[in-house]
Amino acid sequence: MQRYKRIFENNDAWARTMLAEDPEFFHKTEARQEPHFLWIGCSDSRVPAEQLAGAVPGDIFVHRNIGNQVWATDLNLLSVLHYAVHVLDVKHVIVCGHTRCGAIKAAYGQHAFGILDHWLSDLRTVIRHHHEELEAIEDESQRLDRIGELNVLQQVGILARTPTILDAWARGRRPLLHGLVYDVSDGHLRSVVEAIDGTDKAAQLLPVG
Ligand code: CO
Repeated sequence: MQRYKRIFENNDAWARTMLAEDPEFFHKTEARQEPHFLWIGCSDSRVPAEQLAGAVPGDIFVHRNIGNQVWATDLNLLSVLHYAVHVLDVKHVIVCGHTRCGAIKAAYGQHAFGILDHWLSDLRTVIRHHHEELEAIEDESQRLDRIGELNVLQQVGILARTPTILDAWARGRRPLLHGLVYDVSDGHLRSVVEAIDGTDKAAQLLPVG
C-alpha cells in the first residue's frame, strides 16, 4: 500500500509544480485539448510516451498496446485513430516501437502464451516473411531489434491503409505518419520511417500477411 499511497503524494507535488510554472495551466487544459500528435506505442512501462517526448498534458493523444500494433480489426485502436484524426485533427501519427520489447521476444520464441498468441500472430507473420534477412544477423539482440524495426514498418503500412487515414489523405495530405524506435538502453528515439503522406510514399510500405 505504501507505494500506492505514494502515487497521491507524487501527484500532489506534480500538480503544484505545474501550477508554479504556469498558474493558468489547468484552466487551459480544462477548456480543451488540441494535441498535435497521436502516439501508438507499446504498453511497456519503460516507454512512457509523454515523458520521453518531453510533453505535457494536452500535447499527445495516446494509444498503447502490447507490441505497438495496428490491427485493422481492432475497434479500440480504430476508434482512437478516428477521433484523433477527424475530431482532434492531429498533424502527426507516430508508431513507436522499442528495443528489448517483450512482445517481439515472445513472438520470435517457441513458447506458447495462451491468448497472447493471437495478439502476437501478426508479429510472427512479419518474422516469417523476413526469415532470411533475420537469420543472417548473428547477434540475437540485434536480430530482435531488427524485428522491432520491421514491426514498426508493418504497423505504419497497415495504418496507411485504414479508411480513417485514407479519408483524411483524400481531403489533404495530413496526418503525416512516422515510425520510431525508442532505445531503452540510452533513452533516445530513432526514426525508422518518416513523413508518410497520401502520395506514393505510402505504397512502398506494403504490409505483409
Ligand atoms: Co514492447
